[in-house]
Amino acid sequence: MSQLEIRGLGVAIGGNPILHGIDLTLERGTLSAIVGANGAGKTTLLRAISQLLAPSGGEIRFDGRVLAGTPPHLLARQGLVHVPQGRQIIAALTVEQNLLIGAGSLPGLSGADREARLQAEFERFPVLRERRALSAGSLSGGEQQMLAISRALMMKPSLLMLDEPSLGLAPQVVSRILATLRELAVGGMTVLLVEQVAFLALKYADAGHVMQNGRIVLSAPGAELLKDKALIEGYLG
Ligand SMILES: Nc1ncnc2c1ncn2[C@@H]1O[C@H](COP(=O)(O)OP(=O)(O)OP(=O)(O)O)[C@@H](O)[C@H]1O
Ligand SMILES: [Mg+2]
Repeated sequence: MSQLEIRGLGVAIGGNPILHGIDLTLERGTLSAIVGANGAGKTTLLRAISQLLAPSGGEIRFDGRVLAGTPPHLLARQGLVHVPQGRQIIAALTVEQNLLIGAGSLPGLSGADREARLQAEFERFPVLRERRALSAGSLSGGEQQMLAISRALMMKPSLLMLDEPSLGLAPQVVSRILATLRELAVGGMTVLLVEQVAFLALKYADAGHVMQNGRIVLSAPGAELLKDKALIEGYLG
């Protein structure tokens, strides 16, 4: 069974159709990238998967179960976690407090488990350990993105979705983050990444999907899409 299966998904916002007939399958333990220009519908798709937007048609199955309006905090407990565009960390709280909020929504997580997860995140991104007592708002953009990812990972998702984690970051930081996502997929997590910076995302992705005007217009292995630069540039505008 695939981790996520979307069939014929349509989404309308305020009566305007935004997504049309989206079919998308995510296999477990793969990194998939959705690329597309400004306004293509990438964020809308992630928000629909996260049940923040109701579909006007079609179906989304997560772990074989049809999702129909499951509230986000319950989805997170079931293993579907979304790192939104703009990160949404809590600037006034410390790095450590932000991380503990990530695990805070999980009932039945023991103090020892929470601590183990915290240490695992400090090992993944040592800079977060160094800055653990500082306010999250004092971190650089790259560090804030690492924090947002670690906060999501505190919930041990089976499907991790990220909306433009590279936004505003230096290329080396972007590569570091993409390499981390790659490692997570190799470790068995399913990762869905939305990116405007197609070149880097496709370099790390198993599967690439190009979106244009609310549709997926092209799907292929990331490496294959990369070979066809003219095609990508044409779609990305
Ligand atoms: N809340 C909203 N109300 C009205 N229209 C919206 C709303 N959110 C998105 N749209 C429209 O839906 C379309 C897709 O937007 P979306 O944000 O999903 O694109 P995107 O691919 O994420 O773009 P970007 O790369 O700029 O983040 C756009 O035409 C946008 O204007
Ligand atoms: Mg977007």
